[in-house]
Amino acid sequence: MPRKLKSPYLPFGDQQTAPWYGKDILSVKPFTRADLDYIFGVAHDMRIMVERIGTFDLLKGKILANLFYEPSTRTSSSFMAAMQRLGGAVIPISEVKYSSVAKGESLPDTVRTLACYVDVIVIRHPEVGSAALAAKYAGKPVINAGDGAGEHPTQALLDCFTIREEMGRLDNLHVTMLGDLKYGRTVHSLARLLTRFNGITLSYVSPESLRMPHEVMDEVAEKGLPQAEHTTLDKVLPATDVLYVTRVQRERFEDPLLYDKVRDAYIITPDVLAGAKKEMIVMHPLPRVTEISMACDEDPRAAYFRQMEYGLFVRMALLAMVLGKA
Ligand code: CP
Repeated sequence: MPRKLKSPYLPFGDQQTAPWYGKDILSVKPFTRADLDYIFGVAHDMRIMVERIGTFDLLKGKILANLFYEPSTRTSSSFMAAMQRLGGAVIPISEVKYSSVAKGESLPDTVRTLACYVDVIVIRHPEVGSAALAAKYAGKPVINAGDGAGEHPTQALLDCFTIREEMGRLDNLHVTMLGDLKYGRTVHSLARLLTRFNGITLSYVSPESLRMPHEVMDEVAEKGLPQAEHTTLDKVLPATDVLYVTRVQRERFEDPLLYDKVRDAYIITPDVLAGAKKEMIVMHPLPRVTEISMACDEDPRAAYFRQMEYGLFVRMALLAMVLGKA
């Protein structure tokens, strides 16, 4: 018989006055430090619940539409698993070509339709701003699962939760982001979110053509965080606590020759990790292509598979919050 969890975060009954009830999650921008502490508290309790009892009926009777206009393995399946572990149901639309989108239906009409049937909509779409457009028409909470090269807020939340669970803190860390910082939406959201914590230093390592966008760097600078750009990793690696590696986003390049020039710009190998701190962690939103050698996978610092699992707990927390159950 599992022990009953006494959680301040998961009360019985609807919480229609809860701060995130009915809200959209489109960007990391609205989240305060207090919000993050709250989300991570809920996610931590979700983790304990999953580990103890697996599935429970917090969202029984609720339905999620999982609307993916772009490929996904982790985000799509973890949102489905999150809803199902909380006792809810899912309408998965991962092949929009089999929906009325293929007949030319607009995004506003598609989400207006789904909103008639479901309680919450998760959307991934190739255009920046698409999740905000969906939210305008849905009348139900919309969660951005990645809008082109824009943002991927739930990934940044799970990334911060991973750092918290793995490092035991989110303050006083040197975070190095490596790879495609131009098109990689996860690093845009993560850099913004890390400004909520104290003592964070950000280093960006990328080819010249894939630098972190100015608007993100300007927002980080406004919050007073030290940040620096590099084209090689060697100088910054010894001081790094969290190495966040990203894939070069082939699908966002108009010219394949430009992609070929940078595709293998950085490859993390055991030899590279030999120059890093013993307690550093390596993260990656995945999927990876060649940027982290599989020979690194057994290194205890390789946190990228554990990171995927933390995503389940964070997405369970977010669904419970916007549906008034946390
Ligand atoms: N990290 C991430 O967004 O992975 P998927 O593209 O598989 O969802």
